[in-house]
Amino acid sequence: MLGSGIVLGCDYNPEQWSADVWQEDVRLMRQAGVDLVAINIFGWSYLEPRPGEYDFAGLDRVVELLHEHDIKINLGTGTSSPPPWLTTLHPEILPTAADGTTRYPGGRQAWCPSSPIFRRRALALVEQVARRYGEHPAVVLWHVSNELGCHNAHCYDEETAEAFRRWLRKRYGTVDALNDGWGTSFWSQRYGDWSEVGLPRQALSARNPGQQLDFHRFSSDELLDYYRDEVEVLRRHSTVPITTNFMVTAHIRNLDYWTWAPEMDVVANDHYLDHRLAAPTAELAFAADLTRGLAGGQPWILMEQSVGAVSWQPHNLAKAPGEMTRNSLTHVARGADAVCFFQWRASAQGAEKFHSALIPHAGTDTEAWREVLTLSATLDRLDEVAGTTVEADVAVLFSWQSWWSCDGESRPSHSVRYLDQVHRAYQALRDLGVTADVLAPPRTWTGTGWSSCPACT
Ligand code: GAL
Repeated sequence: MLGSGIVLGCDYNPEQWSADVWQEDVRLMRQAGVDLVAINIFGWSYLEPRPGEYDFAGLDRVVELLHEHDIKINLGTGTSSPPPWLTTLHPEILPTAADGTTRYPGGRQAWCPSSPIFRRRALALVEQVARRYGEHPAVVLWHVSNELGCHNAHCYDEETAEAFRRWLRKRYGTVDALNDGWGTSFWSQRYGDWSEVGLPRQALSARNPGQQLDFHRFSSDELLDYYRDEVEVLRRHSTVPITTNFMVTAHIRNLDYWTWAPEMDVVANDHYLDHRLAAPTAELAFAADLTRGLAGGQPWILMEQSVGAVSWQPHNLAKAPGEMTRNSLTHVARGADAVCFFQWRASAQGAEKFHSALIPHAGTDTEAWREVLTLSATLDRLDEVAGTTVEADVAVLFSWQSWWSCDGESRPSHSVRYLDQVHRAYQALRDLGVTADVLAPPRTWTGTGWSSCPACT
């Protein structure tokens, strides 16, 4: 897929460190047998420090350093988080929450997917990056943005409302068809004109379920459209495969990846054990099987996982000795041909300074680092597994649209949740030692009829 054998990789955020640390980093990457490094994931403020003023000196050096050490590059387009100058110049790109309040910069991904200004500025950066590195021999993969929709999938501003109406017009054709689809005769919700149709903003009671479901579909489509725009720029300058990192996981459900997957040159997923669940490793197995389903049974990339604790759950558990290796091999056994981590070196500052990394704060004389070296050697011994596929006689059907719909505001019982039910069916098979594929339902309801689903054929 990305070379021979099972690939070991990581996110690398060298902007945090001085150039002498970079030298030490590449030396240790070689020692650990790192094959693939994702860079420029959050590079925007570094590459374009002022509007329209680009500075590639730092990224050039990192690219060359990796290349000299024969390490391949998974190059981020750098657009995931807008730099402070952009949100200062154009606060209108900031996300609006369902209650009409603004979500401010200071974290990451503070942009609204339907913002034309954001898109124009982001695509201008992609153009620069693609032109500069599109034919560089070390670049073997493009990494569009980062976890699209992780924080900003749903935006409730007026620009989004306009885009939603355009999407609805395409879907329904007439206001009457929309009224029929959404059942607006109930509770006096009948629309007389497109201009009256809005977003499912926070309301006093349960909102119209048809409106909510369509808003989910629209929001997923809107980000996919954004992805396509970045791809279009990249393709003009490069023939290297393009992907973005999915979040097939229990706690994020904003994108219908069955519609996204066919547009990826290779499917990539980020997976973190979620200790809020009763059976975190069972969920890992399910997510890996589902990612294989998205990849159409072909090999896929585990783009991120953690070496030890994350820093964004209420209780961030360290991994027991061997646990990281076992989880990595679970992904490989379920079809991953690349095992990558967030991130290379633990941050000394910033929002993720308590997150584990391949090089922990305590350095390389640690059990954590020794386990990384062991994993690397183990993956090398498994090289012949690369390119092989998983055989399963049983399939569990899974659909994001069903998830959105079943977990709506008004329902028979809030104790019955879609994903729990899917997990239970999957768990029963797992208990029996039965390997299952996880596939899309063969057909989906469009509101006006059944259509076949491209991802399941
Ligand atoms: C992912 C993200 C990474 C990092 C990681 C921490 O969601 O893509 O940038 O934040 O989580 O677990």
